[in-house]
Amino acid sequence: MNYHQPVLAPEIINFFDPKPGQVYFDVTLGNGGHSLEILKKGAIVWGLDADPLNLKIAADRINDLGLSQNFHPLLGNFNRIFTIWKKEINQPLDGILADLGLSLNQQSGQSRGFSFKDTSSLDMRLNPKTQALTAEEIINTWDKDQLYQIFTKYTQEKLAKPLIFEIIKARQKKPIKNGAELSQIISSYYQKKHYSSYHQPATKIFLALRIAVNHEFENINRLLTALPKIVKSDGKVAIISFHSGEDRLVKQYLQKNNYLSKKFLPTHSEVKKNPLSRSAILRLYNLN
Ligand SMILES: C[S@@+](CC[C@H](N)C(=O)[O-])C[C@H]1O[C@@H](n2cnc3c(N)ncnc32)[C@H](O)[C@@H]1O
Repeated sequence: MNYHQPVLAPEIINFFDPKPGQVYFDVTLGNGGHSLEILKKGAIVWGLDADPLNLKIAADRINDLGLSQNFHPLLGNFNRIFTIWKKEINQPLDGILADLGLSLNQQSGQSRGFSFKDTSSLDMRLNPKTQALTAEEIINTWDKDQLYQIFTKYTQEKLAKPLIFEIIKARQKKPIKNGAELSQIISSYYQKKHYSSYHQPATKIFLALRIAVNHEFENINRLLTALPKIVKSDGKVAIISFHSGEDRLVKQYLQKNNYLSKKFLPTHSEVKKNPLSRSAILRLYNLN
């Protein structure tokens, strides 16, 4: 399998400096790329993911590498991090990692609804068993004001109004059923207007839908405020965000609580090897 490549991994491992017996919590396990680097150093890792498919991919991968002895997979959402930690771990952590967003297999996979090319779904839920609202429901049933709210508030889409007009016009003819149909509606509008765009024209619309479906901003705020209760007083925190909305929340929290953090961006060579890393912003800080 083509695993998601962990972003800024040497910087994180260098900062954590994991030792045998230390306890780390990777709250966005993904395909386990960061976790397995911590496990290789002999530390204990608890790995959480809201997506059952990714949890299995990571657990199998770590098992195949013979690293499962110190690894504990957990299915769950980090918006309940304190409850999960209390029930399952209940000891102060040496470090915590949150690598926000989606892994490569989620972003590009068919039938998850995250991809512009997905011809079978516009779902976007991390866990369909625990979440009811889908992006398909939002795009086909929310009124223009509700859509405007998420497209402007979450991702500052400058063309929100005309794009909503196009979306509503299209859905009146027939429901928008998948990512490919939605991205086509947006691309057609760009073509009609002779607009060009550096990124895929539907990028901000898809991102706003994903944030709304998975309550991403609320989750990040809950995670950040729980950290001092579960990490050792001299413990370490690493957070990778992938767009300005996410990073703003992290930055504001750090400033408000007077944490001194170090910021890292991927090098050119990392971006060349792993284009998905291009928008990553890593913030590292100590709790004390
Ligand atoms: C960028 S990927 C992590 C990649 C991982 N570091 C690796 O090296 O493979 C983000 C992961 O976090 C998970 N995730 C996103 N939001 C979450 C949340 N609120 N609670 C738990 N997991 C979440 C996603 O399902 C995805 O698997």
